[in-house]
Amino acid sequence: MKELKPFFLDFTEEEINDTQEKMGEILRSGQLILGKYTEEFESSYANYVGSKHAVSLNSATSALEVLCLLKDVSGKKIAVPSNTNFASVIAILKAGGQPVYMEMTKEFFAPNLDILKETVKKHNIQGVMWVHIGGLIVPDFLEVASFCKSNDIFLIEDAAHAHGSWIKGQSAGNIGDGGAFSFFPTKVMTTMEGGMITTNSEDEANLVKSYRNQGKRHAAFGGLHYDYGNSWRLSEIAAYMGILQLSKLDSMVSRRQNAVDIISTELEANNIKYCDTSHMDKCSQYKFIIPLSEGKNIKTIKDELAGKGIFCGGGVYEVPCHLQPVFKDIEYNSAELINTEKYCPNHLCPPVTSGTSSEDATRIANELVSLLK
Ligand SMILES: Cc1ncc(COP(=O)(O)O)c(C=O)c1O
Repeated sequence: MKELKPFFLDFTEEEINDTQEKMGEILRSGQLILGKYTEEFESSYANYVGSKHAVSLNSATSALEVLCLLKDVSGKKIAVPSNTNFASVIAILKAGGQPVYMEMTKEFFAPNLDILKETVKKHNIQGVMWVHIGGLIVPDFLEVASFCKSNDIFLIEDAAHAHGSWIKGQSAGNIGDGGAFSFFPTKVMTTMEGGMITTNSEDEANLVKSYRNQGKRHAAFGGLHYDYGNSWRLSEIAAYMGILQLSKLDSMVSRRQNAVDIISTELEANNIKYCDTSHMDKCSQYKFIIPLSEGKNIKTIKDELAGKGIFCGGGVYEVPCHLQPVFKDIEYNSAELINTEKYCPNHLCPPVTSGTSSEDATRIANELVSLLK
């Protein structure tokens, strides 16, 4: 029985050989960081997303922190969904901001405009850290962006899951006031470790280059330090891997989409609810999210699937941030996080990757139907 796993590293033998050769070239050149591959990766990424600038970093966690530093979140209340990765919240805290949690809907596992408005009404919100969970951009996200603009609230997009996600002609990471992408090994595209900030502001792009490089504003090497930066650079070999992965991002995403189409058609036919992305131009399909209905037990279902060789990945997310031990001092009101508390521990993400064939997807769909109907 073929095992279907939640992670798939999409590198062909040819690409592995090519990467090894490049590693040799990079080592012989002596330029291990901030060289021609970093520049090429950044300009190709900006071109793909449609932003004026893209600046690489060593992770999305640091990219989000830098965006928070650029927006000067210190002492400000920043709205963020509780249903997100540690990174979105720690970035706000490390930059001196105060996270204020937002509820999510069951339909999209993310906030919507009404939830944001409610949060803004109750708190003096000055910025928003929005998360395109699983690659899903909520249907009213452009309205969210206009609301933020007209209320003088900055909007950071955590697009760690959303490479190749588009809505109404715009890419994730290029709708608000700066986006952060992750190239962690499990993501839609990877550079082993890595992140990218996309922005349309030249000044901010220059500042990101300073923050990632110990606060050196003008010269990458030597020189004076102007900002409280860090060593958050990407290596040249990682940048080269990013160039390779980006060149096949569309094809990797369309293979994920093919699997999602097959699974969702079966679920639909059997009246099983899932987070629908059909309102988008394209979705990265990083995670296909199925909220469980009353009476279904997540552990039993996962165990039964595993028994059939189908291994689910982690959810997005099983434990929301407001219940994470590390964030115990951040205030929240459970009565305002009812969906988050109910569905975070009760949803399933079946294994969907760019390596999922139509046959695999049919097998996943059939097993899901027999367990969830
Ligand atoms: C929503 C979200 N934001 C940010 C990050 C951080 O990404 P990285 O691992 O590149 O720091 C992750 C990583 O899993 C994530 O899921």
